[in-house]
Amino acid sequence: MYSFLTTGTWPDYELLDAGNFEKLERFGQYILARPEPQAIWDPHLPASEWQRAHATFTREKGSQERGQWKLKPSMPEQWVIKYDQGDLRLRFRLGLSSFKHVGLFPEQDPNWRFIFEQTKKRRASTPRVLNLFAYTGAATLAARAAGADVTHLDSVKQVNFWARDNMEASGIDGVRWLVEDAMKYVRREVKRGSKYQGLILDPPAYGRGPNGEKWQLEDELNEMLKLCQQLLDPQDHFFLINLYSLGFSALILDNLTTATFGVSAGQREIGEIYLHDQGQRKLPLGTFCRFAT
Ligand SMILES: C[S@@+](CC[C@H](N)C(=O)[O-])C[C@H]1O[C@@H](n2cnc3c(N)ncnc32)[C@H](O)[C@@H]1O
Repeated sequence: MYSFLTTGTWPDYELLDAGNFEKLERFGQYILARPEPQAIWDPHLPASEWQRAHATFTREKGSQERGQWKLKPSMPEQWVIKYDQGDLRLRFRLGLSSFKHVGLFPEQDPNWRFIFEQTKKRRASTPRVLNLFAYTGAATLAARAAGADVTHLDSVKQVNFWARDNMEASGIDGVRWLVEDAMKYVRREVKRGSKYQGLILDPPAYGRGPNGEKWQLEDELNEMLKLCQQLLDPQDHFFLINLYSLGFSALILDNLTTATFGVSAGQREIGEIYLHDQGQRKLPLGTFCRFAT
């Protein structure tokens, strides 16, 4: 089934507008303006609304990612937002990084709810969940909040510290933190014969392991999925992959997951993730595939 996923009502987050390769968002009480390569259309709101931004990110000349934040006096470097969806109640510390990121991908909300619900549906008394390329841990906390034994793996120590802060701010504990290269770890786990009831991955287009191991999405993804297939408890599992690499069609995921997991179209959801702004325009922010026994 090809589907489009977007966020539910979430008082502490809103995409206000997008256009001119920029997006305007509200995180809690603060409004941010930052680059968005896919927003090639005209903005919906007048310039006066964009000027209300408390923080604006401007890219450095010649750099795709690096740049500076220009802050209004009232804008803090860090703040916390709430995420309360039914029994899933999380807290996220946000911060302005030198790459336009703030420590959270709000468009992942529908996937956090999927993880929470699917973890609860596992037959295993304490489902084991592995979250690869786990960043600041929103997906990790969604699984832990549902009672899973979660392994959170990212190659950057500081990112894991940030995820731990989010865990403590959310009143949760007991996550297993790993600073490792995802491919190396998965290969080792397959050798060990380890099995998981939940597997989550959100790989970047390009990345590095803690010892400089190279991750190149198009080169490594096929093998990574074949290894992941061997880690799934065949009788009792959920699987979720999210990609946000520009131009990576969901049909690629369709072919890869059909071949690797043998799941038929009816058994899984595949498609695009987007956010809609106040002008009801849809901002595409990635592709995904998810399924469960
Ligand atoms: C942008 S994030 C993924 C977002 C995350 N899943 C979320 O929704 O919050 C990609 C993460 O992959 C990590 N990473 C990059 N290369 C890696 C590698 N070879 N092994 C493990 N993690 C890696 C980066 O440190 C980064 O935190």
